[in-house]
Amino acid sequence: MSSILVIDDEPGIRSTVKDILEDEGYQVLLAEDGPIGLDILQRESVDLVLLDVWLPRMGGIDVLKAIKSSYVGIEVIVVSGHASIDLAVSAVKLGAFDFIEKPLSIDRLSTAVRNAQSLVKLRAENARLKRTAVEVDDILGVSPLMHEVRTLIEQSAKSDARVLITGDNGTGKELAARRIHELSERSEGPFIAVNCAAIPETLIESELFGHEKGSFTDAVSRRKGKFELAHRGTLFLDEIADMSLSAQAKVLRAIQELRFERLGSEETLESDVRVIAATNKDLREEIAQGRFREDLYFRLNVIPLRMPSLRERREDIALLARVFLDKHANGAARSIEAEAMAILSAHEWPGNVRELKNFIERISVMSDESSLSATTIAHFLNGMGGGYGYAAEPAHEPCELGELLALRLSEAREEFERRYLLHILRKMQYNIAKAAEAMGVYPSNLHAKIKKFGIEAGE
Ligand SMILES: Nc1ncnc2c1ncn2[C@@H]1O[C@H](COP(=O)(O)OP(=O)(O)OP(=O)(O)O)[C@@H](O)[C@H]1O
Ligand SMILES: [Mg+2]
Repeated sequence: MSSILVIDDEPGIRSTVKDILEDEGYQVLLAEDGPIGLDILQRESVDLVLLDVWLPRMGGIDVLKAIKSSYVGIEVIVVSGHASIDLAVSAVKLGAFDFIEKPLSIDRLSTAVRNAQSLVKLRAENARLKRTAVEVDDILGVSPLMHEVRTLIEQSAKSDARVLITGDNGTGKELAARRIHELSERSEGPFIAVNCAAIPETLIESELFGHEKGSFTDAVSRRKGKFELAHRGTLFLDEIADMSLSAQAKVLRAIQELRFERLGSEETLESDVRVIAATNKDLREEIAQGRFREDLYFRLNVIPLRMPSLRERREDIALLARVFLDKHANGAARSIEAEAMAILSAHEWPGNVRELKNFIERISVMSDESSLSATTIAHFLNGMGGGYGYAAEPAHEPCELGELLALRLSEAREEFERRYLLHILRKMQYNIAKAAEAMGVYPSNLHAKIKKFGIEAGE
């Protein structure tokens, strides 16, 4: 967690500000002058500084300059008495985020701090998106269908034409969108992904187009929308079918004219954005049901790109499985026996590549066979369907917390429970009454669990 540093020579102000900010849940550090403050910045993770302009030893303006030249990520709010208001104004010109006048008003202080914090957060989020954008995996596959997909991706990367990516869950729609961006002339620009299904209907417009401070109840500060953030880059509208009709109308206009307004603002903004959309729904069906605008569909569907399911290209499964296994091998080369591979290739994989990837990850944690056998694969596939149920006798027992951490919550919980039961049972020499007592459960309950996990005495 990052903290707020308060640099002020008046002890009274330091402790008041500390109390107020701590009440609001921030962590607060204190310094009585500039050099001490700068020293703290070298050691601690701070993302906001409240800086008095009038300071002994080193003036506030010099402290501000020092902060701004060494720490790009830190925002500074300047605090000034009435007499030094000119200094505060020049501080803002030098890059301070805001200034507050003394005597301090609690409201003014908390608003300024909150605004600065949301800017810091937004910036971190953008940096994160940028980072993920450069780590795009190759789109693997030896099947003719995947050759076609790659060719289409390369061709569409050459233009700014809108692409509509369709395909079942986990078929690589997002990966394809990132790849198009990476191969395009916009690759230096941002790749901004918006999951339209994850954003509540009431917030989607502000998310896409931004808002002005106060334009609605939660709009505490001015905020840029994704259309603005994606300037000179690619905007990926994921799960596009899950957007409300009113948001669809706004998106239609925005992508047609590349012009839009922030919520609560009259000013029309322009953005140079390439739009890629994706959905796992059948948009023609959505149109027939009146849930999707036909005109938006035609705008988005300039280049249709369909990601085929694994079932349609079983010849890709072996390659994908090997690559995913290598990624988790940690140096130790592992292979998959021919018979085991045959089982993988014949499997249905309703969750497609994502499911295959998770499955291989799980196996590489749970088994230490150097060449994965058909028995192991069949054993682990057995529990699939409603989540990977845990089979009675696992081929191998994970023994590190780190291994549990690689599992899904439901699996980790089950695995922990099973090992916990085994541990206590062994300790109590399989005396159910004693074990149940040690665990704080009823013996009948313990019996049920033993049955569920297929534990046998002596295990
Ligand atoms: N052809 C491929 N080669 C290598 N990895 C792939 C391939 N296709 C998908 N993946 C991997 O599978 C996972 C799922 O891919 P992605 O998130 O792009 O799918 P999606 O179609 O967007 O899924 P959803 O419909 O659930 O949103 C990712 O980890 C991705 O890297
Ligand atoms: Mg996706």
